[in-house]
Amino acid sequence: KTVSIIGVPMDLGQGRRGVDMGPYAIRYANIKERIERLGRTVKDQGNINVPTAETETIENQKLKYLPEVARVSEDLAAKVGDVVRQGHFPIILGGDHSISIGSIAGVTQHIKKLGVIWFDAHGDMNTEETTPSGNIHGMPLATCIGVGNEQLVNIGGFAPKLRPQNVVIVGARSIDPEERELIKQHGITCYTMHEIDKLGIAKVMEEAIRIASDGTDGIHLSLDLDSIDPDMCPGVGTPVLGGVTYREGHLAMEMLFQSDKVVSCDLVEVNPILDEHNKTARTAVDLVCSLLGESVM
Ligand code: ARG
Ligand code: MN
Ligand code: MN
Ligand code: MN
Repeated sequence: KTVSIIGVPMDLGQGRRGVDMGPYAIRYANIKERIERLGRTVKDQGNINVPTAETETIENQKLKYLPEVARVSEDLAAKVGDVVRQGHFPIILGGDHSISIGSIAGVTQHIKKLGVIWFDAHGDMNTEETTPSGNIHGMPLATCIGVGNEQLVNIGGFAPKLRPQNVVIVGARSIDPEERELIKQHGITCYTMHEIDKLGIAKVMEEAIRIASDGTDGIHLSLDLDSIDPDMCPGVGTPVLGGVTYREGHLAMEMLFQSDKVVSCDLVEVNPILDEHNKTARTAVDLVCSLLGESVM
């Protein structure tokens, strides 16, 4: 399967500048060459156009930059839909996590029954009612299960994109009180760092893969690099101590490769301004290579 890379220099979904440079940082870490070395054909599709924060104004403090995020999401959904129709495996480079609204809308145009594994320190299950920040990057998972703002929920012209029983959060350690209620209420499985420490990443991933593939035609991996411990991923806007280790991350990706279920993936929240020598982007590329079958022997 050809791999298609799509960049989304989006920073309107959160409050800090720099995450718009994520796609450049990940390309600079040689994502294309590294994947080609695995014997795959890689096509870089370039970037989706994203307006510059300085030229826009915030109209709604509970949904910052809603019209702009919605427009980019529609464009991204169309592009992702396009490459999935051609049989490619899309890798979407963020940008902040709001881009998953568009990427998942694109994949589900063709893969109607999609499971999702949401690797994240956060739940991203807020709505305009529950958000503490007004930042849309805290809302994409809720949006994809059809909860929240109408315009965002209906990106791509249909909703919901996902069934909550096929959604698994892995690596959580910072969840807002009302998010917690929404996660429980909708029956989303959430493996926090507690379960990873106690059961081990192998057991957690075995369960996550089983749940996300139960009755679905594929799994989308949404990899927020803040899921990984800040020692290897310091360049993220909302770092949280006590994350998934580099080794646990690799084993998780290798297990996803072995499952042969993953159809698409997002690499999000890489912020080179906050990074140390592009460490976060380099970790992202290492992990995506494991996801695509890189192994030692
Ligand atoms: N829960 C917080 C909020 O809603 C932080 C979200 C962080 N999300 C992320 N994609 N890094 O603002
Ligand atoms: Mn996130
Ligand atoms: Mn996060
Ligand atoms: Mn962030």
